[in-house]
Amino acid sequence: MAMVHIKDLLYHAYNNRYAVGAFEIVSLDFLQAVIDAAEKARSPVILNIVEPHFGLYDLESLMTAVVNAAKRASVPVAVHMDHCGSLETVQTAIRLGCNSVMFDAATESFPVNVELTRNVVTMAHACGIPVEGEIGYVTGFAVENGEPQPEAPVYTSIEEAKAYIDKTGVDFLAVSIGTVHGRTKTKHRLDYTRLSRIQEKVNIPCVIHGGTGLTDRQFHKLIDHGVAKINYYTVLADAMVKKVQANINRGEISYQQIFAEVRETIAKEVQRCMQLLNSAGRAAEVLIQCQPWHNVEHVIVYQPSTDDQGIIQEMLYKGKQDLSKIPGVLDVQIGRSVDSNSRYTYCWLIRFAHEDVLESYKNHPTHVAYADQYFRPIAADRMTTDYEMIDTLDWREMPSHASAARVAHST
Ligand code: 13P
Repeated sequence: MAMVHIKDLLYHAYNNRYAVGAFEIVSLDFLQAVIDAAEKARSPVILNIVEPHFGLYDLESLMTAVVNAAKRASVPVAVHMDHCGSLETVQTAIRLGCNSVMFDAATESFPVNVELTRNVVTMAHACGIPVEGEIGYVTGFAVENGEPQPEAPVYTSIEEAKAYIDKTGVDFLAVSIGTVHGRTKTKHRLDYTRLSRIQEKVNIPCVIHGGTGLTDRQFHKLIDHGVAKINYYTVLADAMVKKVQANINRGEISYQQIFAEVRETIAKEVQRCMQLLNSAGRAAEVLIQCQPWHNVEHVIVYQPSTDDQGIIQEMLYKGKQDLSKIPGVLDVQIGRSVDSNSRYTYCWLIRFAHEDVLESYKNHPTHVAYADQYFRPIAADRMTTDYEMIDTLDWREMPSHASAARVAHST
């Protein structure tokens, strides 16, 4: 029920002076802890999957769990892929169910960053997906135990920030004003004047990477200066390791017990963060103002004009292969009627990320070529309908007569 458009989510935060935490998910323990915390705090939340950490898990399995948890939550949730390094990763993120992406070309020169980001924005927007871009460079260890990034941060230039937004069309801006990814020995010194001047110029929600190590006062001041999303990870990972060590040291060796307490530890810190960002207690008002995020099923039922199985199989195989690669397509399924007398023997079920994909899919050269060469010549007898998938409706919230009817029907 509660997967929502991130643009609605972040503009609500931006206009009401609070921030939404983007908590990185690296395992099912993290996922459960973050969702539990959001439910308890009645807070909107962003589930963050980070490209440099793909090596830690099976991405497809984790994403299935993340999207499922987002849809089942009773608080507003967006699913975001962070630090995507290429157009291909952005397309994968969308295919796996993310409804928000960050593209990171921050270490490139300004013109290259602009060009790469613009290409991503064009593709993602055609799929209905908002994009966060970065200008300047937030340093630190984004990759756990990985290669250190170049040490010196590059602060976001005020002029470049404005030009970057105008030229790329990004929806949210990640700024470098003194935060650092991961652990640091020294206290962060943040350049609020720079942030204010960037805000005056760009007027869109800003994003802070490197939430770990910031003080309560720094969180509040960032929000006062137009920050609506704050990324938070290392502090959670460190709390988890500390808890595992403490449990083992005290002789606790049951896996279940160790990890039940670990989840509690993460959830407590996430809840503390939600209070700090002032997002706690906002779920209801946000839900009222956010559009729910619905996939769209493109359904085609058809009767081939030939019985030649070779031609039919080629048409099916080619369609599955080609159509799956079009941006915004989540899944392509082929169906054959179980009723031999059916008017339509075959169907396609093609799931799109969002309604906006209807247009970009229709005009995509891969779709046009396939439809003209393989499909339309033998499937003139067909019916096409697009359905918004409202399968995430929460039955508990249905009017009582509807639930009663459903109970009667199922018995
Ligand atoms: P921290 O690990 O410093 O909290 O930062 C996370 C982050 O910004 C991911 O992009």
